[in-house]
Amino acid sequence: MVIAGIVAGGVGSRMGGKTPKQFMELSGVPVIIRTVKSFLRSGSVDHVIVGITPSWCDYMKELCAKYDCRGVYVTPGGEDRNATVENIIGFARNVLSAPDDTIILTHDAVRPFVSERMIDDSIEALSSCEICTAAVPATDTMIVSADGNTADEFPLRSTMFNVQTPQSFRIGSFTDIMSRMTPEERAAATDVCRLYKSKGFEVRLVRGETYNIKLTYPSDMIFAQALINAENDSL
Ligand code: CTP
Repeated sequence: MVIAGIVAGGVGSRMGGKTPKQFMELSGVPVIIRTVKSFLRSGSVDHVIVGITPSWCDYMKELCAKYDCRGVYVTPGGEDRNATVENIIGFARNVLSAPDDTIILTHDAVRPFVSERMIDDSIEALSSCEICTAAVPATDTMIVSADGNTADEFPLRSTMFNVQTPQSFRIGSFTDIMSRMTPEERAAATDVCRLYKSKGFEVRLVRGETYNIKLTYPSDMIFAQALINAENDSL
């Protein structure tokens, strides 16, 4: 079984506004619907489960009906991103009887430009590893600065990558790792890949795309709309 776990439990504080950013519209279509449809179009994904900010669950169900996203499951998100992933996996186990070897592609609801190629590459990678993440080579030179004022380290740009999603793994290994975490480890491990790495797993990189942006700030919405306009112009 292959599941897309769309994490949408955040409130979008950096984007601002009353509506969480996953519900903002691009060319009249909510971002989250664009993301969900990318996975519904994939022939490789059996089920799509969305983990949504709890007070927005009913609205999400209404949107699924309005935009003909049949078969999409909606479940409440958690306190942080990992907790939302856990809720989605819990739903998959309880409602879909998903077995341990079920592949889950966890994906940010606010990355609507995920491609079929990234989805297929992620599934293919898991035939020879336990976890993989989409990533692109860093274009800016990166520095490490603990205090945000002075530079501590200057990593070689050729060794630096920007992490994207999908981040994909099997639900059995995820549940096993989470059950072995101390509360301190759990609080520190904000990223699933870091969590697997800390338990000795190799984290494989799958080629992402520079256009697979995460909508974080208002300027990202302008860029995303320009991408859609350019796509429409070329049709
Ligand atoms: N996310 C989630 N559950 C949470 C927090 C975040 O599922 N408790 C999701 C967001 O909805 C988003 C993705 O994780 O799709 C990436 O997180 P981010 O861009 O940080 O989203 P927000 O937390 O909504 O944004 P902000 O940090 O600006 O508040």
